[in-house]
Amino acid sequence: MLVDEVLAALAVHPAGRYVDATFGRGGHSERILAALGPQGSLVAIDRDPEAIAAGHARFAQERRLALVHGPFSELTRLLRAASPQPALYDGILIDCGVSSPQLDTPARGFSFRQDGPLDMRMDPGTGLPVADWLAHATFEELRQVIATLGEERFARKIAAALVRERERAPIERTLQLAGIVERAVPVREPGKHAATRTFQALRMHVNDELGQLRAALAQSIDLLAPGGRLAVLSFHSLEDGVVRDFMRAHSSVDPALARLPVIPASAAPKLRLFGRKQRASAAEVAANPRARSALLRVAERVVPEAA
Ligand SMILES: C[S@@+](CC[C@H](N)C(=O)[O-])C[C@H]1O[C@@H](n2cnc3c(N)ncnc32)[C@H](O)[C@@H]1O
Repeated sequence: MLVDEVLAALAVHPAGRYVDATFGRGGHSERILAALGPQGSLVAIDRDPEAIAAGHARFAQERRLALVHGPFSELTRLLRAASPQPALYDGILIDCGVSSPQLDTPARGFSFRQDGPLDMRMDPGTGLPVADWLAHATFEELRQVIATLGEERFARKIAAALVRERERAPIERTLQLAGIVERAVPVREPGKHAATRTFQALRMHVNDELGQLRAALAQSIDLLAPGGRLAVLSFHSLEDGVVRDFMRAHSSVDPALARLPVIPASAAPKLRLFGRKQRASAAEVAANPRARSALLRVAERVVPEAA
């Protein structure tokens, strides 16, 4: 999504080194590779083994690309493993959330429209499927996750229904969960399935999406070369809040030090905001309704002043 905008923000140098921390099916990676020359390189990461397998099949001949399986919360470790020489990068892209193949494959359990096992892990090899978490979470944990990550005003009613229903039978299928939520929610939002917010909350919870994002952002600063760009696409207000707060905090002087006559070099901002936040064009939203909530923020690594 916002592929042209992301490419413009990254301003790919032909001989540069880039990171796509969320390979998916390689839409952004493909465009980065097209802008790179023979000396350039790209490390592409995904925590979903199916994404990495699809990438190997699609880019089997591509020598400039290293595909790495793992969570971007371990960005520094994954990049060191891909390129043992210590390296700085000219651009890092994070395109948050799930891919279309994940959403559209019933067996992955992300969809409230198609029946499948209630899983929703991006990496089926780690962590707890939603069904396991639902079986053991307390009422208060359920309410809190659905209220916070789903921004769902009927979280209390939904959590109560889940606790009631799981005493009768384990909640193990996507359509079973969607039905329980539909019956618990008294008011429908126009154009939105009643279970949209609950599914989003449970997905974000079992994949620790906000924790992953915070960890990757924190590591990105020391991985960027001077002038290198960090581009982050988010799809949720809480996700965008994490990105916005991170970029603001690192592009301004700590208020406690701002009044000093000379700002110590160690307190100087490490990032500079690059442009304004951007949304998908009307044409892109018309072609792909999922682009409606996409927001792009970009920051640039400041060139440290000579000592
Ligand atoms: C929105 S899709 C990316 C689409 C991609 N930019 C493209 O053009 O095809 C997000 C991808 O990031 C992966 N992902 C999400 N969170 C991740 C994390 N914490 N670590 C690694 N990969 C992650 C998902 O598995 C998914 O494949």
